[in-house]
Amino acid sequence: MKVFVTRRIPEEGIKLLERECDEVEVYSFDRIPSKNEIIEGLKGKDGLLCLLTDRIDRDVISSNPKLRVISNYAAGYDNIDVDEATKRGIVVTNTPDVLTNATAELAWALLFAVARRVVEGDKFTREGKFRGWSPTLLLGKELAGKTLGVIGTGRIGTAFALKAKCFDMKVLYFNRSRNEVLEDRLGARKVDLEELLRESDFVSIHLPLTEETYHLIDYEKICMMKRDAIIVNTARGAIINEKDLVRALSEGRIFGAGLDVYEKEPEITEELKKLDNVVLLPHIGSATLETRREMAILSAENLIKALKGEKPRYCVNPEVLRD
Ligand code: GLV
Ligand code: GLV
Repeated sequence: MKVFVTRRIPEEGIKLLERECDEVEVYSFDRIPSKNEIIEGLKGKDGLLCLLTDRIDRDVISSNPKLRVISNYAAGYDNIDVDEATKRGIVVTNTPDVLTNATAELAWALLFAVARRVVEGDKFTREGKFRGWSPTLLLGKELAGKTLGVIGTGRIGTAFALKAKCFDMKVLYFNRSRNEVLEDRLGARKVDLEELLRESDFVSIHLPLTEETYHLIDYEKICMMKRDAIIVNTARGAIINEKDLVRALSEGRIFGAGLDVYEKEPEITEELKKLDNVVLLPHIGSATLETRREMAILSAENLIKALKGEKPRYCVNPEVLRD
């Protein structure tokens, strides 16, 4: 078993691979490898461990007829042409569950940061502008008792929503299927997207990026929101039309936004950086010590299991697994 790892991941994962595989080649630079570097590294390998920043398209997949497994070091797998992999009988695996709490917690961190203007306040204080308590300084929005709209209630959306209980929030959700956990435990109500946007004070996105969810939130949808609403995105940038969001924020159509993800990472629309009513993070939803270690172990285990012909813990195209 020979594998290529596109970036140095926490050592627990590398150690597992080194114990089980005949050859483990790890990309040696601390930067995103180019497509050619991935193709080069993949030569003669049976398995690939890649990151969400690696575009594993048809060219990469077809460059190596020996390739049998692609293990993504992420829950989302929109970076991989899964159809192409499936056609070639290549197993694709991912790392959900272990990052659920980390990502749900970061969504709350962003929501609080925007609602209470935490980042603006920090900047203000560091700049020496704090001249004493003021009745009107940096007024924000309270969460308690308000309506929370959760778009997408898979693992992360559900974990995120459940924490609303601490703040006595009313919860609305938009999801393909019913979420009985949220209905039973929070009295949450399943609504269509328009109702969610119109009724919610806070909106958080927890969907995967697919053809259906691409630009789901555009200017028209943002304008359906309350003028003092807040939207948070910790899922994938392209679910929101970033240009439309910039326009809406510049026009003061909503109170603010919190973003951990962008349409063309690592590029960020320049105007976003000039706005005070948006908090910008560098895609760190799963970035806790605990979670990244778990992701390293899980992605390595997924790769090893699938290479051995066993069933990996998480497979996104189980139709290629032989029984
Ligand atoms: C992070 O964005 C992930 O999908 O794991
Ligand atoms: C998505 O990956 C989720 O875990 O909800």
